[in-house]
Amino acid sequence: MEGVEARSPPAGHQVTALAPACSYMGGKSRVARRVANLILARRPGTVHDLCCGSGAVSLEVVARGFDPRRLVMVEAGPWADYWAAVADGTLNLDLLRDLLGARWPGTVAAAVSYLQDEVTAMARTPEVFLVLQAFAWSGFPAWYDEAAGRWRVRSQFYKCRDRRSNLNGPRRARVLEAVGQHVRRMKGARVVRVDVADLGAWLDPEDPDPVYYLDPPYEGTEGYGWSLDVDEFVSRAPRPLLVSEQRPVPGADLVGRVGARRAGSIRPGTKGVHELVNVFE
Ligand SMILES: C[S@@+](CC[C@H](N)C(=O)[O-])C[C@H]1O[C@@H](n2cnc3c(N)ncnc32)[C@H](O)[C@@H]1O
Repeated sequence: MEGVEARSPPAGHQVTALAPACSYMGGKSRVARRVANLILARRPGTVHDLCCGSGAVSLEVVARGFDPRRLVMVEAGPWADYWAAVADGTLNLDLLRDLLGARWPGTVAAAVSYLQDEVTAMARTPEVFLVLQAFAWSGFPAWYDEAAGRWRVRSQFYKCRDRRSNLNGPRRARVLEAVGQHVRRMKGARVVRVDVADLGAWLDPEDPDPVYYLDPPYEGTEGYGWSLDVDEFVSRAPRPLLVSEQRPVPGADLVGRVGARRAGSIRPGTKGVHELVNVFE
């Protein structure tokens, strides 16, 4: 079945926009509203955002009035440390303001070297990660290279040749504004940094009326540093489970389309694929 209708948010919930701090490869900002409709229509007691990344779907459900203390965010990469610091109130906003403000050089060329040489050599903290991720060209993932003892970004680094540089002041202000909103609104979420395939590490059978939403790395994509065998995971994962994929997943009870065909898919060589949600009851 195709074309799941976007339903209205639950009555009485005021929608106040909440968005990821930056673009991210595979981020679900574009379809978060529809995915959240599918999740919230089930009147969940707890929502599990599995492979949450930049948190587009978590943010959308909280924007609709869902209590962040009933949200579980599972992620293997450094976004987990960012969300953990947001959720427990330890994210250092002053450090972030400093990195994006006082310490930010005045020219684009100097900003590129600042990011590429200085920031990548800074400590392994969620604030440093966010700065690198926010300015990584095209939202390619940033990660900490343990062996080398420094951060890396999986792309040509930062857009430096183009006059319309992405390293501009308004963009930095938008990142700070978004992070400020996260700190105010996402407090109390349960964040677990693990491989989602390790069910025992995050699954709590006591969670009331759970809905599980999985946004795995799509088949054929690479570069997060972690991967997941989706079919194998789905075969033993708890229900109800909603899975974002660009293909129908075997055994799904319903496959709904949440995003229109568009060019420029993140999946190499596959332009114009649909964003699907596979529902397992
Ligand atoms: C398609 S992205 C998720 C995007 C996210 N929904 C958003 O809006 O930003 C997939 C995410 O899964 C994470 N990931 C990949 N394999 C994983 C695994 N085995 N366990 C947990 N997270 C994993 C990646 O680090 C990446 O952040």
